[in-house]
Amino acid sequence: MNHRKPLVAGNWKMNKTVAEARDLVASMSSPLRAITGVEKVLCPPFTSLSTFAMLLAGTDIGLGAQNMHWEEKGAFTGELAPNMVKEFCSYIIIGHSERRAYFGETDEHVNRKLHAAQKADLTPIVCVGETLDQYESGLTSEVVRRQINASLAGMDSVFAPRIVVAYEPVWAIGTGKASSGENANAVVKQMIRSALTELFNEKIAQSIRVLYGGSVTASNAAEFFSQPEIDGALVGGASLKADEFVAITKSAAR
Ligand code: PGA
Repeated sequence: MNHRKPLVAGNWKMNKTVAEARDLVASMSSPLRAITGVEKVLCPPFTSLSTFAMLLAGTDIGLGAQNMHWEEKGAFTGELAPNMVKEFCSYIIIGHSERRAYFGETDEHVNRKLHAAQKADLTPIVCVGETLDQYESGLTSEVVRRQINASLAGMDSVFAPRIVVAYEPVWAIGTGKASSGENANAVVKQMIRSALTELFNEKIAQSIRVLYGGSVTASNAAEFFSQPEIDGALVGGASLKADEFVAITKSAAR
């Protein structure tokens, strides 16, 4: 067992109106609050953030946004600045594979957003992971290491321990085909933590939490959480079902 506090985050993606989101959070907030020893984070769409900030005030459930721009303000139609996110949130998901695949986000963008997160005092959840093609071509290590190195370049070692990395193999996201606990653990150990050690040092690499994401459910969560290198989960589909998300979070408690 390691010293890192488990973290479970629900990424609601582009789902739920404010009214629907209110209902969903109402059905999960008290069972979530009853779970101790796990850092719990909900990441609903932007439109629900102000409502959630009020609903979750005074609870130990954190709030995160799914994306932001790196600039502080200006002519960036449709974007949100880090300090706007910070008005409501303490967490920010950066570089989700859907942002990379559908909205052209590159490692360089991810890097700028990470620096912006530090400046805005937001805890970043940085996503990395290989596509199916890359996986089948044996490129996982190359891709994941490149993503870690380029995304975290120039981050200072004081802020580094606050960074959360989510290893999300793209082939496992939304497909119902999760990685195995063993495989995910090996990627985290051999590729992610070793890249983090090279970037920072062993002590910092050991303090950074690394989550698994990709088709996590109440039935497979324990398999991931029992792995020594996996410190929690970034949950998509199953975070939209109160019972599932609560059960997943419970199984992360040590
Ligand atoms: P999923 O999504 O749990 O629906 O596979 C995970 C994610 O995209 O973060």
